[in-house]
Amino acid sequence: MKIMVIGGGGREHAIIKSIKKNPLVDKIYALPGNGGIAMDAECIDIGATDLDKIVDFAKSKDIDYAIVAPDDPLVMGLVDLLEDEGIPSFGPSKAAAIIEGSKAFSKELMKKYGIPTAEYEIFSDVDSAYSYIESCNIPVVVKADGLALGKGVIIAETRDEAKAAIKSIMEDKAFGKSGDTIVIEEFLEGPEVSILSFTDGNTLVPMVSSMDHKRALDGDKGLNTGGMGTIAPNPYYTEEIAEICREEIFLPTMIAMNREGRRFKGCLYFGLMITKDGPKVIEYNCRFGDPETQVVLPLLESDLLDIMLHVTNESLDQAEVVFSDGAACCIVMASEGYPASYEKGFEINLPENMDSIFIAGAKTSSQGKLVTSGGRVLGITETADTLKEAVNKAYEKVKSVHFDNAFYRKDIGKKALDV
Ligand code: AMP
Ligand code: GLY
Repeated sequence: MKIMVIGGGGREHAIIKSIKKNPLVDKIYALPGNGGIAMDAECIDIGATDLDKIVDFAKSKDIDYAIVAPDDPLVMGLVDLLEDEGIPSFGPSKAAAIIEGSKAFSKELMKKYGIPTAEYEIFSDVDSAYSYIESCNIPVVVKADGLALGKGVIIAETRDEAKAAIKSIMEDKAFGKSGDTIVIEEFLEGPEVSILSFTDGNTLVPMVSSMDHKRALDGDKGLNTGGMGTIAPNPYYTEEIAEICREEIFLPTMIAMNREGRRFKGCLYFGLMITKDGPKVIEYNCRFGDPETQVVLPLLESDLLDIMLHVTNESLDQAEVVFSDGAACCIVMASEGYPASYEKGFEINLPENMDSIFIAGAKTSSQGKLVTSGGRVLGITETADTLKEAVNKAYEKVKSVHFDNAFYRKDIGKKALDV
C-alpha cells in the first residue's frame, strides 16, 4: 500500500512509526513531514493546508490511503476532497470536524444532548460580551470560537483581564476570524484527562487515557504551550470515571453527531476535567492530540493501520484494539524561550536507537545535518511496566540527545506519581 500522511510534527512521526510496522505498507509519503520524519518516510514539500496540491499529489502517486492528522486541513475539508477523488482517508469530514473547528458549535451540541460541560454564553457582539463580564462569576474563561493554534483560551482572574481578553480576540482580532464569535464559560476545577478514541460513527473505542503537561515550566508554571510532556495511563481516570464517561459523554457525543447528520469517523479526542460534580468536557478535538499520541501509540499492541482501515470502512466493531497494561512517559525537548521567541538552526545529535524518539521541529540543513527549526523540537518516549520506571527511563534517554539551547521540564509524571 502507498500511504500519505498529512502533517509534520511529533504526532505524525509517531503515527508513521506505528503504521510502518504493518507489512502491507510499501511506501509512506509525509506532506510536509520534517527532517526527522525523513528517516521513516519520503517528505514532500507541500504544506498541510495546501489542499489542492495535496489532492493533485495523491492522484499523481496513486495513493491507496491518506491519514490527515492536523486540525486545519480537517476543518477545511481535506478528507472530503480526497474521498471525492476516490482516495480513502482517515479523519472526519468537514461537517464532523466542526466539533473542533467551532467551540460555539460544540457547546450548543453538548447543551442540546445533555452532555456535561461548563456553563457558557456565546457572543458575536462585543458590547454584549463586555456587559456580560460586569456581572458574571470570576474567574471566567474566554475562548475564541475557531481554531487558534491552541492559544485561543484565556483564563481571566479579574473582570479587567476578561475585558482585555475580549478586546484582544474580538476587536484586535488576535486570532483573525476565529475570534468573530467567542464563548465565555464557567471556570472549572479538577484534574484534566485526555482521552483519544477511535470511532466510525457506530462504535467508539477509547484508547488508553493520558495526561498532558501544558505549561512551559516545572510545577505547572509559565506560559501555556502545545504540551511539554505526557504520561499514560492517567491515574485520575479510574474505572468508575471511565464508565461514567462512556455512558454520559463518549457514546452520547457519537450519537449526537449522527443525529446532526455529522457522522464522525476518525480519532475523536475528549479533553476532560474531573470536577467534584463528575467528569465534564473541556474541549473536543477532531484528531489525535500532540503529545498525547506520543505516549498512546507506543502502548498500542494492535495494528494501527488495520484499526484505521476499519474506521474508514465502518467496521470498527471487528477491529482488535488492545493496549499494553504498562505505562509510558514522553518528555518534550524544546528550544529555550518556547512558547515565546527562541533561536533555531542548532545541530541535533541523536542516539543510534531512534525507536521512541519522535521529531517535531527539525529540518535538514543545507549541509545535510538535522537542525532545530521549531519550538517543540522532539519527544522522547519510554514504556515500562510501571509509570515510575517509564519516567526514569525517559529522563535517562534525554541524556542521549543533544542540541544547543535545549530545554525541557524536569517534572513530567510527578503529579501522576503523587496521586
Ligand atoms: P483548550 O484549548 O480548550 O484545551 O483549553 C486550554 C486549557 O485551558 C485546558 O487544557 C484547561 O486547562 C483550560 N481550560 C479551558 N476551559 C476551562 C474551563 N472552563 N475551566 C478551567 N480551565 C479551562
Ligand atoms: N495536547 C493537546 C492537543 O493536542 O490539543
